[in-house]
Amino acid sequence: MKPRILVARLVFPKVVERLKIHFDVEENPRDDVLDKPQLIARLRDKHGAFVTGSERIDAEVLEACPDLRAVCNMAVGYNNIDVAACTARGVMCTNTPDVLTESTADLGFALMMAAARRITEAEHFLRRGEWTKWSVDLFAGGDVNGTTLGILGMGRIGQAIARRGFHGFGMKVLYHNRSRLDAALEAACGASHVDKSSLLKQADHLVVVVPYSAQTHHAIGPAELSLMKSSATLTNIARGGVVDESALAQALASGALASAALDVFEGEPKVNPALLALSNIVLTPHIGSATLATRRAMADLAADNLIAALGFGRQAGHPPSLLNAAVLEGRPVPGRTG
Ligand code: 8YV
Repeated sequence: MKPRILVARLVFPKVVERLKIHFDVEENPRDDVLDKPQLIARLRDKHGAFVTGSERIDAEVLEACPDLRAVCNMAVGYNNIDVAACTARGVMCTNTPDVLTESTADLGFALMMAAARRITEAEHFLRRGEWTKWSVDLFAGGDVNGTTLGILGMGRIGQAIARRGFHGFGMKVLYHNRSRLDAALEAACGASHVDKSSLLKQADHLVVVVPYSAQTHHAIGPAELSLMKSSATLTNIARGGVVDESALAQALASGALASAALDVFEGEPKVNPALLALSNIVLTPHIGSATLATRRAMADLAADNLIAALGFGRQAGHPPSLLNAAVLEGRPVPGRTG
């Protein structure tokens, strides 16, 4: 009998076909976002879960699904998974790093430019039919080239944004991160490490790319916003909870901050009405990694992880992006289940 898995959302048919070689696959053809009871009902008898950032795998879900051996996220961020609870139950967790780095950095850079140059605001004006004449200050924004780029969180995506700013746009690049990059990496992206308040004070364009956790909840709140230049922009492509949206809306409305761009939201897919009411903010529906090639690479990597985690293929027992290697300690590599 094949191990049973759930593919929690609609993904590429070719990826599902590959999973079906090894597994008995339950799909979600309507692509419904599964709430906790629905997730438990579908996962209860499963050995593996192919999930996205929309599905929360916590201790309660794990408790209700005793056969679960692997949770494979089709996302690099994994704040939707309680990794410690998984580890405690010997459940492998994986994510999809690297394959989305460049596409997500592209989107971050695009949003920063759109905020600085007021692109969506100007387009909405034109579409409303309000463009009647050229004027000297019509949608005049701030420059990106030659300015100071500030990056909060200098992982793979932060570094990719830094390289774009430094090599492509002649920007001075400052970053703040828990740990400092080694000198060679700093040189490759032309970036200098500074403390958080210097970053906030000096950045003309601040891009937030820090993973979300209890420690980074509202890492940008009223105190941080008050340190920023009133001409600055703020772009968040990490997770909504990193930025206090009400404080951001207030700063944008009062002119304490020039403009912002958000791809992620505190209560997504719901968007705070205070943000929707503002014109000096660019809003996109969590599309950081959304190119077809990148989404396919993410789905393939999540499938590779699941296949290996449940004991198949060349990497059997050792999924390529295992987040909790501790599950391998003290017990043999899992054999095929089911
Ligand atoms: C995902 C993301 O598309 O990878 C991440 O962490 O935020 C996006 O690339 C989204 O989380 C759905 O899984």
